[in-house]
Amino acid sequence: MIDLTPDRATLDPIEIASRDEIAALQLKRMKWSLAHAYKNVPFYRTGFDAAGVHPDDLKSLSDLARFPFTVKQDLRDNYPFGMFAVPREEISRLHASSGTTGQPTVVGYTRGDIDTWSNVVARSLRASGTRPGDIVHIAYGYGLFTGGLGAHYGAEKLGCTVVPVSGGMTPRQVQLIEDFGASTIMVTPSYMLSILDEYRAQGRDPRKSPLKVGVFGAEPWTNAMRAEVEEAFDMHAVDIYGLSEVIGPGVANECVETKDGLHIWEDHFYPEIINPETGAVVEDGQEGELVFTTLTKEGFPIIRYRTRDLTRLLPGTARSMRRMEKITGRSDDMIILRGVNVFPTQIEEQILAVPELGPHFQIELVRAGRMDQMIVHVEAASGVQDTESAAATLAHKIKSIVGVSSKIDVQGHGEVARSEGKAVRVVDNRPKGE
Ligand code: DLL
Repeated sequence: MIDLTPDRATLDPIEIASRDEIAALQLKRMKWSLAHAYKNVPFYRTGFDAAGVHPDDLKSLSDLARFPFTVKQDLRDNYPFGMFAVPREEISRLHASSGTTGQPTVVGYTRGDIDTWSNVVARSLRASGTRPGDIVHIAYGYGLFTGGLGAHYGAEKLGCTVVPVSGGMTPRQVQLIEDFGASTIMVTPSYMLSILDEYRAQGRDPRKSPLKVGVFGAEPWTNAMRAEVEEAFDMHAVDIYGLSEVIGPGVANECVETKDGLHIWEDHFYPEIINPETGAVVEDGQEGELVFTTLTKEGFPIIRYRTRDLTRLLPGTARSMRRMEKITGRSDDMIILRGVNVFPTQIEEQILAVPELGPHFQIELVRAGRMDQMIVHVEAASGVQDTESAAATLAHKIKSIVGVSSKIDVQGHGEVARSEGKAVRVVDNRPKGE
């Protein structure tokens, strides 16, 4: 793979500033953000008052721990515009997450916020190895989801030629990548696998595609998946993280030269890791739930938002800003099977370690008698006949490495549900209400 390390002179100076400079900027901005939320959002005023804290109490960054958390339910309770900190007329864009049940959660951006967002996505793309003038194919969904438009504005800001394809119509994705000569693709990793299948179905060699960089996010994926996609396309696969409540894609991004976790753009988003049970802040290096406070958002500031994403904070490497390790999973996606915690990413790793199996998978939970059972639906790699031994190998790996028994259902090529956006990894078919 070609070296795409960006020239240091092209980075934002704050990316490589000293830790002292970063902390000073964070403290100044955090004071502003807390005061802005307190002054303009009744939810924060009531919450801070009830907790007996005031924005003026923040003297150092660690004082943030005295302020209350914000959770998704708070956004639902204030649906649709109750969390906005500016008059509605000053909101220039809305996004929303569909939410599987109940009300969607709505977020709003001022013009200034859209500018901030474009800048952090442009920074993320540059870290990924994309350059001004590159052709960027965007296959994240456009619409209320932040993926498509968030990526779009950032790629334009960097000075790229943007192809706003959105998700779906996979044969056309391949045709446009090839005809237009896209060198960067922005897409969920699971949909990238569908695009890979389509390359093969069309008899094209993915290694000869014009793609040099894939900027993959919006769902958890493993280093094993990185290796699979990098090998298949002869391209760099880099991780991008974000969530609509904080801004959208571009909260953190890996650097192409190190691929050692995602640098958090700490000048705009302040991270903490907490013990999800007690809520206590844990030291850098320890695993827990990621919590974010926005430092510059005008329309929709968010204070100590509990993401439910599990990871740990690590010191900076390619940039001075701290890294977060690749997300293991969301606490809501965690399967507890006979007392053992299992994340879909752990199953993905084991599947990718069996060459006779393809990378598409779905986990089904069923009740067998009085026991919960996990069925892993997975596909045989093309040309593989002996699916029984592949199944046995996978069941053994899952048992010995992840620590749970599972039933493996090896299907034919194309039989496991394909993703066109975020993959649905777990289907719970256990009887409800027991
Ligand atoms: O998924 C924003 C996004 C779009 C990020 C495109 C990256 C690329 P939401 O729909 O609000 O926003 O979902 C946010 O997705 O809390 C994580 O659980 C998960 N997620 C996002 N990026 C990653 C990642 C967008 N790189 C939720 N690795 C987050 C693991 C991710 N999980």
